[in-house]
Amino acid sequence: MCGIVGITSSKPVSSMILNSLRKLEYRGYDSSGIATLHEGTIHEIKSEGRVDALEKNLNKSNLYGNIGIGHVRWATHGVPSTINAHPHSSENVSVVHNGIIENSTLLKKMLLKKGHKFKSQTDTEVITHLITEYLKKNDLKTSVIKMLKRLHGSFALGIIFKDQPDLIVGARRGSPLAVGYGPNENYLGSDSYALKSMTNKISYLNDGEFCILKKNNIDFFDENGTKVNKKILELSSNENNYEKGEYKHFMAKEIDEQPTTIKNCINEYIDKKNNDINIFNFPWKSKEISSIVLIGCGTAYHSCLMAKYWFEQITTFDVSVDIASEFRYRKNRFKKNALYIFVSQSGETADTYAALDLCNKHNMKTCAIVNVVESSIARDSKFVLPIHCGPEIGVASTKAFIGQMLVLYLLCIKLAKNRKDISKDIFNNKIKSLESLSNLIKKTLNTESDIQMVCNSFVEAKGSMFLGRGYSFPIALEGALKLKELAYVHAEGYPAGEMKHGPLALIEEGMPVVVIAPRDEYYKKTISNMQEVIARGAKVLLITNKNKDEIFSENIWQSIEVENTTEDLFPFLITIPLQKLAYYSALKKGYDIDKPRNLAKSVTVE
Ligand code: AGP
Repeated sequence: MCGIVGITSSKPVSSMILNSLRKLEYRGYDSSGIATLHEGTIHEIKSEGRVDALEKNLNKSNLYGNIGIGHVRWATHGVPSTINAHPHSSENVSVVHNGIIENSTLLKKMLLKKGHKFKSQTDTEVITHLITEYLKKNDLKTSVIKMLKRLHGSFALGIIFKDQPDLIVGARRGSPLAVGYGPNENYLGSDSYALKSMTNKISYLNDGEFCILKKNNIDFFDENGTKVNKKILELSSNENNYEKGEYKHFMAKEIDEQPTTIKNCINEYIDKKNNDINIFNFPWKSKEISSIVLIGCGTAYHSCLMAKYWFEQITTFDVSVDIASEFRYRKNRFKKNALYIFVSQSGETADTYAALDLCNKHNMKTCAIVNVVESSIARDSKFVLPIHCGPEIGVASTKAFIGQMLVLYLLCIKLAKNRKDISKDIFNNKIKSLESLSNLIKKTLNTESDIQMVCNSFVEAKGSMFLGRGYSFPIALEGALKLKELAYVHAEGYPAGEMKHGPLALIEEGMPVVVIAPRDEYYKKTISNMQEVIARGAKVLLITNKNKDEIFSENIWQSIEVENTTEDLFPFLITIPLQKLAYYSALKKGYDIDKPRNLAKSVTVE
């Protein structure tokens, strides 16, 4: 995923664009660049690496102009390099792009035959030469319409033109694009984060639309050039959420925020006066839904796996889970009585959006569980349940994972009550238990000193295993993913009962293995699995709950005891030490915790 920004103003724009690029850097950070139009000439400055490198180059040579575009890149076509960084400019136009042009090879061949010279290995540069070609015989708007119709794939575009001193063209298909309204200036951006430091008045382009943005006016058009009107949304200004405060990393702040975000989310949904859960105009009656299909990617997929246990334990729904990038290619038998739930922190993940789009095309019941309510997945789902955890800037998802699980759990028990799968008493007890969750998480955060003692072994080992049974298995997967994506070490989440069917061969002397075994119905069997790996030399980090009667002494390397709670709520608590393990492991290795290599906060390419 990349980030794009554009500004047309009555004053110089390069420093404003640079500031916006810093806010967009979580979307991609292997290179960046800015182009401005000044006195009839396009000037561009680009750098490999972080936005800091770009700033150094900008300081060396001023970039004048009251109109410009900027870009932070997460490479898809062409290695991270200055030449492949955006913008991609010719003498007449300059382009920034987020997405993938799937027919770029074909278009490049056609343009080369017409004498165009390419500098980069990117698909984006094709757009630069294609619009230049159309401008030879057409006016601006016609050229834009023709150009967009020739492109296959996904894009959010920002384009400036040598002969148009006061306008920026924006266009969207598949990748999100917003515009912002300012005082005698207007803005284009990949998302509201990029624009919030300049305005909280935002409009969003829908797929197929393009806009012509001037400093005092923005016109929107559909793919055929017919004007469309746009609502102006006023976004809440929560600027402080974008700062680290006293924390070294956003991730550390976001882990510690979890007691608060849990409380906020519970307050949003639990109606204390009527002892009920409010899911605000849920559009379907209980008898209209007989099965649930949960779909997501990465950490969001793990929250779907977790929800499957709750739906199976607490309701009579048929429940299935799918990875979004797999779901969309399955020969799906769409069921009219199924509710398709799309879980996505960013609400912009291309694979998850594609799965949603497929369900919409089959007129299925679709529900989004997202953190960004103005996102594409939220806007195109029939119903949205926000997780209310505030902006999550760290690329590794922590508070959003806990928030996703919480909203899924709330939806599960609410539907269970409506369908009379559980009695009102059981429902009331479950709601009552939730009242303590925030405080329990707060106490569990205090296990971090034990975690700091063990993380050396995880970063020095050639690999580690994370084992769990039942609902501890999705948490094992999530713990392994966190360690992989932050400390760049191999870690594998596995069902504890499956080790004897092969992976036990991996165990060797001193190998760190996390065993997640709260004292639940799976406990005894998981402890047996734990003994099997210890017998073969593993160093076991046991994650269990407090129990004064049974203190583990023999041959456990380290144990972390979370607070006692109901079985339903253990998944929230056992996640916390694993988030901390990944964080401190990455800290030991000195890696960039908020922007791990090769990753981006929202993957808007397939
Ligand atoms: C989370 O730690 C990962 N960085 C990643 O797997 C993420 O969960 C996945 O890309 C899905 O993102 P989404 O929730 O924004 O859809």
